[in-house]
This record gives sequence, C-alpha cells and structure tokens, in this order.
Amino acid sequence: MTVTFHSGEQLPLEMHKVRIVQKLTLPPIEDRLTALTGAGNNTFLLQNVDVYLDMLTDSGVNAMSDRQQAAMLVADDSYAGSATFTRLQAVLQDVFGTPYFLPVHQGRAAEHILAQTLVTEGSVVPMNFHFTTTKAHIVLKGGSVAELVTPAGLEVTSTAPFKGDLDIDALRAMATELGAERIPFVRIEAGTNLIGGQPVSVANMRAVRAVCDEFGLLLVLDASLLADNLWFSRTREAEFADASVADITRQIADLFDVIYFSARKLGCARGGGICVRDRGLYERMRPLIPLYEGFLTYGGMSVREMEAMAVGIEETLDLDMIGQGPRFIAYMVDELDRRGVPVITPAGGLGCHVDAMRFLDHLPQDQYPAGALAAAAYLAGGIRGMERGTLSEQREPDGSERFSEMELLRLAMPRRVFTLSQVRYAIDRIDWLYQNRHLVGGLRFVEEPDVLRFFYGRLEPVSDWQEKLVAAFRRDFGDSL
Ligand code: F0G
Repeated sequence: MTVTFHSGEQLPLEMHKVRIVQKLTLPPIEDRLTALTGAGNNTFLLQNVDVYLDMLTDSGVNAMSDRQQAAMLVADDSYAGSATFTRLQAVLQDVFGTPYFLPVHQGRAAEHILAQTLVTEGSVVPMNFHFTTTKAHIVLKGGSVAELVTPAGLEVTSTAPFKGDLDIDALRAMATELGAERIPFVRIEAGTNLIGGQPVSVANMRAVRAVCDEFGLLLVLDASLLADNLWFSRTREAEFADASVADITRQIADLFDVIYFSARKLGCARGGGICVRDRGLYERMRPLIPLYEGFLTYGGMSVREMEAMAVGIEETLDLDMIGQGPRFIAYMVDELDRRGVPVITPAGGLGCHVDAMRFLDHLPQDQYPAGALAAAAYLAGGIRGMERGTLSEQREPDGSERFSEMELLRLAMPRRVFTLSQVRYAIDRIDWLYQNRHLVGGLRFVEEPDVLRFFYGRLEPVSDWQEKLVAAFRRDFGDSL
C-alpha cells in the first residue's frame, strides 16, 4: 500500500507490525574506523555488533511471518520420508506446476548440481546476466557464460522498466552459431542481481522461450529474486494490471524447464531447491543430491526451515508481502536521486544501488571505487553495504584485473526488517558522504584469495583518507553518533 498523507506526501506504509525485535548498537565513528581496519576494509569481515544497519544482503535475513514461525514448531523431523518435505513439495507443485523437486542446502548448491549435470568443457551458457556463484560453478566445469542483457540493462540512469531483459536477437545469433550441442541451457535470472535487481518482463521471457523451442534449448529460471520480479510485472506490465500474483507466477513458471532458487531470498527462509518438469532430467540430477546435499527428503536443510519455506513461498503470492521491498527501495532511490546522489534508476528490487563510478569519479577502477565506497558508507553511518564491482570479479588467467562493467555499492533492503526512519537515516548519511566524496580515496589488496576474493580478501586504504573522513564527520556532526 502507498498512502497519501494529508500533507500530500506519499509514503510506503507497512502492512505488517513488528512483534519480535533485536537490539542494535551504533558505535561512534572512531570505533567504526577501528572495526573497519580490523575487517581489512571488507564489509564481509565486519562483526555484526559493530554494524547499525546491516544492508549487506537480503539473503537469509528477511523477517519471517508469524505463520512461518508457527510452522517451524510442527516440522516433522526424520531422515527419510518426512511429512515436511511432502508439504513443501506440494506447495512448489501448486505454485510452479512443476512435478519434480530436488531439495538443496542453498541456491549455489542448486547451481552446482545443474552445472555438474549439464555443463561440459567448452560449452557456453547464455544468460541475461551472471551471478557470482552461478558463473563460478559453470567455469569450474570448463564452460563459460555469455551475458546477453539488452544494452539498456547497463545504462545506470534510465526509465526503462525491464532492464533485466535478454537481447533476443543476440540469443538467436548465438544459438545459430553454437547450436544446441554447445549450449547446455539458457538461464534467466528474474530480478537481475548484479545490475541492480532489475526485473525481466514476462514478454521477454516468452520471446526467450520461443528461441529455445526453435533451437531445442533447455530454459532455466533462477527464481531467487522472483518475488521482486512478480511485483514489477504486476505494476509495470499492462497485461497484468489486474492479475493475481498466483496467476503471474504460473504464467512465468510455465515457460521454464527448470526453476531453481535460493530460499534465503525466495520464501524468506534458508535452503533452496530445483523444480524440474522432465522426469529424465530429474533422474540425471537426483543421484547428486544424496552425494553433495543430503537425503532426497531434506537436501541439507533443517525441516524447520523447510516448513518456513513452504509458508514463505505461499506468502509470496500476497501483493502486500512482495511489494514491501520494492516500495521501500523506491523510496530510498528516489530520495537519493532527488539529492543528486548517483543511484541506479529506475529503482529495482533487492536494494538501493549507488553508482560508485560516478560517486567517486576521481578514483581509477584499479583502486576499487565500489569497495572504497562500501568502506566509506560504513564509516559515515555504521551502514554495512556490499561491493558489487571489480572486487567481486575474478582476475583474468594472466593475472590482470577484469574491470567490472558497473561499480556499485549495494545497500540491500532485507524485507520487513527496517523502519522508514532507519531508511531515512541511511539516506542522510549517504547524502552527507556524497557532499564529502572528494575525501574518499581508494583501496589496495593486502591479502587476495584466488576464488571469490570479495568474500574474505583484505585491503588497506591507499592514503590517510579515512582519518580525514572521520575528522570531517566530527566537524559536521559534533558528538552525534
Ligand atoms: N542466484 C541469485 C540471483 C542470487 O542472488 C544468489 C545469492 C544465488 C543465486 C545463490 O544463492 O546464496 O543461497 O547460495 N545471492 C546472495 C546475495 C548471496 O547477497 O545477493 P545462495
């Protein structure tokens, strides 16, 4: 719901109430500098006690509903044949219409199983855009990823409603060139994570399906961020203006051969799953579940989480539920945009994405502008965001940097977790940082892991810019936290 106040102001009104709370702390900026240094300037390595607003991710940290909590108490614990699994499977069959379900411990485990089963040396997986773990699993099997997002997807400032759409002509050209033998599957990520949570239109998914039919290609949906995408289809695609969320979900699902997801996002729980239409493909993947995950009726998940997931996925069909994130994100994006702070527009799902390339346009890309901005945002407000830029890439085989197309600071909006005053605080501190952006300098690695280096690599500032930022904060805010 968006209500208009008597003053004329429009605010996204919460359609839920808070019934369990967690105490937060906001350390003074001097302590934040100590914590940041201790964490090697990597927000993944900060301790939660040092963080005020944890906007690192929406993964596994969304609020659960009372119904989810209640369901967790009646979970049926058994190694094999658990009634909880049967309930979860039935919900997925009902929502997606897919007959087979393989449980996995989280989204990347689904990607592992899919890559193990389908990807071969020299094969190419076309997709609208990669996700870090997806790409890593495909590359590990000797395949590669072809990103075919339409050029609009990479335009930071835009009014295009579906920037996650895949370029259909490029897909057809690739299918013509490589043929079905070298394309194990085509992947659509609904709610495209790394380009700012931007949605894919159902119209585009239908066109992708038509190309897959023409060339005999398997079509896979990464539904981790489907809830946001459903909201955008409902509100931005005219044909769905009056449609139920259940109906849109089913129309999307019907287009895909495989639907996999991280339940840390979809369904506000933990775990994940792979929904499969074809029995033959299901049987090819099935042996890998007990090998890597756990028995077929739990797949590495706790039954309590599976109960929460079943209810959470049903609740994804509620417009109030799926609208909360996108409406709060739109509030934050629009307010920052109004203040001149460079953010990805239009607002997408997942979170608010600040364009570090423009925010810190004095920094060269090899000093990791998005990483530097993540460090600076923590200093300025105790706000923990996530670097989504060159740091999140892997170096080329020759050791040179692979510069990311976008340098983003992602400020995720865990669903139903923060209040609007907390969001307004974040807006204020990011705005202040923008006014003082010239003070922010770059970072360099002191410890750099080979694989997924952004998770636990350590960096240091290239100069004493962080001390200068602390001094400016004290000058402007006095003794405020
Ligand atoms: N696919 C997408 C689109 C994702 O956003 C994620 C996770 C995964 C797959 C992997 O799922 O974490 O359960 O193994 N995204 C998290 C994030 C990590 O913070 O954006 P997972």
